Amino acid sequence: TTSVENLSTKLESLNLQTPPVIEGSFPQYNTVDLCRNYIADQLSQLANVDRSIAYQSLEWSLVLDNGDLIVPLPRLRLKGDLVALAKELADKFPLGGYLKRVHPEGKFLQFFFNPDFLLKYVTKDVLERKQDFGSCPLGAGKNVVIEFSSPNIAKPFHAGHLRSTIIGGFLSNLYENLGWDVTRINYLGDWGKQFGLLAVGFEKYGSEAELEANPIQHLFDVYVKINKDVKDEEEAAEKAGVSVDQVNSVDGQARAFFKKMENGDKAALALWQKFRALSIERYIDTYARLNIKYDNYSGESQVTQEQMNEVLDILHEKKLVIEDRGALLIDFKQLGEKKLGKVLVQKSDGTSLYITRDLGAAIERKKKYQFDKMIYVIASQQDLHVKQFFRILEKMGNTWAKDELVHVNFGLVLGMSTRKGTVVFLDDILETVKSATLEIMQKNAEKFTLVEDPEAVADLVGISAVMIQDMQGKRNNNYEFSWDRMLSTEGDTGPYLQYAHSRLRSIERNCNVAYANLLGADLSIENVVGVEETIKEQGLEPAEEAKKLAMLANQREKVESLVRILASYPDVLRLASKNHEPSTVVTYLFKLTHQFSSTYKILRVMGEPQSVLEARLALFSAVRQVLNNGLRVLGITPVDRM
Ligand code: ARG
Repeated sequence: TTSVENLSTKLESLNLQTPPVIEGSFPQYNTVDLCRNYIADQLSQLANVDRSIAYQSLEWSLVLDNGDLIVPLPRLRLKGDLVALAKELADKFPLGGYLKRVHPEGKFLQFFFNPDFLLKYVTKDVLERKQDFGSCPLGAGKNVVIEFSSPNIAKPFHAGHLRSTIIGGFLSNLYENLGWDVTRINYLGDWGKQFGLLAVGFEKYGSEAELEANPIQHLFDVYVKINKDVKDEEEAAEKAGVSVDQVNSVDGQARAFFKKMENGDKAALALWQKFRALSIERYIDTYARLNIKYDNYSGESQVTQEQMNEVLDILHEKKLVIEDRGALLIDFKQLGEKKLGKVLVQKSDGTSLYITRDLGAAIERKKKYQFDKMIYVIASQQDLHVKQFFRILEKMGNTWAKDELVHVNFGLVLGMSTRKGTVVFLDDILETVKSATLEIMQKNAEKFTLVEDPEAVADLVGISAVMIQDMQGKRNNNYEFSWDRMLSTEGDTGPYLQYAHSRLRSIERNCNVAYANLLGADLSIENVVGVEETIKEQGLEPAEEAKKLAMLANQREKVESLVRILASYPDVLRLASKNHEPSTVVTYLFKLTHQFSSTYKILRVMGEPQSVLEARLALFSAVRQVLNNGLRVLGITPVDRM
């Protein structure tokens, strides 16, 4: 645990004072927050504004050239010539050891952190806190329910489910890192007429042995066959100019079976229960490959009849439904909502619908978990459905629905098929990507022999390829699924990040320095990079000297950018929790690894004097730790060798 006293001790050792801390900021967890507090304190005094207004005026800078933090002066609510004021404030602003420079740019103030301070302070912070670096008790005491993946039993696991799984897994890790109590729910499509169909199909085509061995595949095969029978019967009837037999046809039998399920018939439910249980058993293993473990395998079947009746009662009571030929529907137009259309909430035979079950499930979850927030990770294709049921919940008088429900939506994956055919199940995708990765790894025979468990590594690297491809763009954009592109170690891919991680690991292995030595390393810029004087003292040829000085400046610039990127990691997680964009983290990791590799190119570790070696290794170890943490938040297991 990191306390504020601990913070003071650390700052004192650098001759810095602890700033007064604004509520809701976490200087002991986030160095950028620490600097925000310093700046807010100074700025409030210089500009004579409230400290919290000064604090809130501080904005992120997306480009390091524009500073680490920016204050647009209009946000201080001051009158007068703001351009002149920016100049004046920049002139007067005390740097206090944590800042290098304050630069006026029009009506903006750009704050540049002091890299010497960051190098000493942040590098150690990372090395001390290890896997906890980046986390912060922002959501302490709060509880979030995250529903994601939610495939349909006996139907293909399509790209939409894949994205929901990946994004939902990420959001769960992210919220956990930020101190929230997270409940992961998988809301299976495990109810409806298709289960009647599946039961009839199983009688005809099913095999107990195959069901046990490979339930997901087998149920799907049965489902495909029986659906074909339904089609054949329809076509035959049409040819004969008669209608399909309502009772004896496959479809008729399926409806009858589902009706029995709805009525609670024990035998009917037992078969369905078996299908469900065996499928879940298999899902658990597959999700484990993606580092996902659910707290609850819920599903449409789990919404109780009582809950659904309660929903319908309230809908009647609040006059939200109208009857239409025995069925019940909500007409949003009549309720003053132009864009949401009409939606059926009960069929004429009294059975429930997808949306009715969602209404019931949401209310049940509120009762059960008392959540502060509930996130649904569902494809944009269902935007209308989600808007409708969120709105209905509100109209029913559930005041929490408006602020606590969040729909995290996402676009399509285009062209997702295996090299052989269409992807059906998650396991197929993971197996395909694994064998493709193994093939690539085998091409470098020398390296390959050093990898302890190549199958396991190929699995992890392959999975990272799929995951990074999925998370690198804004989630609302569609993307093209490309096996070749995502598996390349060149360009911004999962294997590239894994490669960077294993390379950093190899640097650590080769140097073989005790952790305590890294923690005690002299992280002054003079030690890490060197100083001009030592070069000048050498009495070199002018051209040679100029070359060395230029190199020194270049190294310094690289190291400075690298530590500024390291320092911003906790902020990146916080931003991602606001925009719910995995790409915020992915983009950050590419920025970090690119900066690392260009720094490492000109900043040698092995062969340097011990104190320099240890300091540089400490810096690169911190980079590796942050990369490791970031990959894990995304749901990816970093590899040590590949
Ligand atoms: N099973 C649904 C499908 O595959 C997704 C469920 C999304 N979640 C929800 N609460 N409606 O389309």
